[in-house]
Amino acid sequence: MHRIAVIRGDGIGVDVIEEALKVLESVAPKHGIKWEFTEFPWSSDYYFKHDEMMPEDGPEQLAEFDGIFLGAVGHPDIQDHVTLNGLLLPIRRRFDQFVCMRPSVLYPGVTSPLSGVKPFDIDLVVVRENTEGEYADVGGFQYENMPEEVAVQSAVFTRQGCERIIRFAFELARQRNKKNHLTSITKSNALGYGMVLWDRTFADVAKEFPDITTNTLLIDAACMDFIRKPESFDVLVASNLFGDILTDIGAIITGSMGLASSANLDPTRSGPSMFEPTHGSAPDIAGQGIANPMAQILTSAMMLRHLGEDGAAEEIEKAVEETLKIGEVLTPDLGGSSTTSAVGDHLAKLVS
Ligand code: NAD
Ligand code: IPM
Ligand code: MN
Repeated sequence: MHRIAVIRGDGIGVDVIEEALKVLESVAPKHGIKWEFTEFPWSSDYYFKHDEMMPEDGPEQLAEFDGIFLGAVGHPDIQDHVTLNGLLLPIRRRFDQFVCMRPSVLYPGVTSPLSGVKPFDIDLVVVRENTEGEYADVGGFQYENMPEEVAVQSAVFTRQGCERIIRFAFELARQRNKKNHLTSITKSNALGYGMVLWDRTFADVAKEFPDITTNTLLIDAACMDFIRKPESFDVLVASNLFGDILTDIGAIITGSMGLASSANLDPTRSGPSMFEPTHGSAPDIAGQGIANPMAQILTSAMMLRHLGEDGAAEEIEKAVEETLKIGEVLTPDLGGSSTTSAVGDHLAKLVS
């Protein structure tokens, strides 16, 4: 029995979770999987009623689950720092989900906006540091709302924090056994403390992995190379903010935000990991029934792998790949005219 906390959240999060749950229920019997899904209504709607995104003991309520399955958070009528610092980011930190793993694969049948790239030319994983760095919740205002207002936003880099994420990325490069290569993303030309510690730690940890080749790229040059030669990458390791930015690029060069899966992992397994796609609540298409649920569905496959259900995960991934290749049941972001629920129904049937 896998006990999963479900937080649909906002906008298209609500719709894509619906389809992913269909697929997870549908794949279960063949693999002897039993689910117990518990829904938590925490969202911007919850905020409008209760003046908070989740109850104060919200994270504690999640502690005993085997996984957290989340859609997206963000509402046009509430400032993003309120919604995200009220729900998503505290959960990542509370459960020390220090790895954010985000694959980008160009599947057959999908058109990349880049010219000249063939299926699987792009096959990379960004390992994003997920609990500190530029996202450390450290800072404040002085003289708030006055002409002389000051805001301080501190980035926090710790040797232990750098070390564990970099080591995880090396291990992943070894385990993938593709190019056996790891790229470190830095900006130590301008950020002379945090990023220097990052670089030094990378060089130290690299000594433990003589079988993995490495290079270091400045974040600005890395953004360029995602466009110019994305096939050169295998695994990348990046700080919280740089990983965030790179993974939206990774998503769009492999076809759509609607295909980009993601997992927030605590590899020590001392608490639940959280599975939510790379995309947000997409207010521009929310409520229209046209969001692509495949990112959430591929994210559910990452959750299955984390739960040790590799067979079911593979089946879901194959079903998505097959559907992309045939190209008949696709949402508008991929050039199709199917609805969110038509794609979900189709995939649920394929994996049943
Ligand atoms: P977004 O990812 O929501 O949308 C960016 C673009 O991609 C939009 O044009 C959108 O329509 C498209 N898109 C995204 N997902 C799609 C899907 N599944 N199918 C088809 N098209 C898709 O990013 P944004 O517009 O910058 O942010 C919207 C809100 O979401 C903000 O409030 C932001 O803070 C929040 N956000 C939340 C998360 C999260 O909860 N994990 C992630 C990113 C952004
Ligand atoms: C993501 C999102 C979040 C992040 C935001 C919504 C806080 O963009 O998961 O990529 O930056 O981590
Ligand atoms: Mn992002």
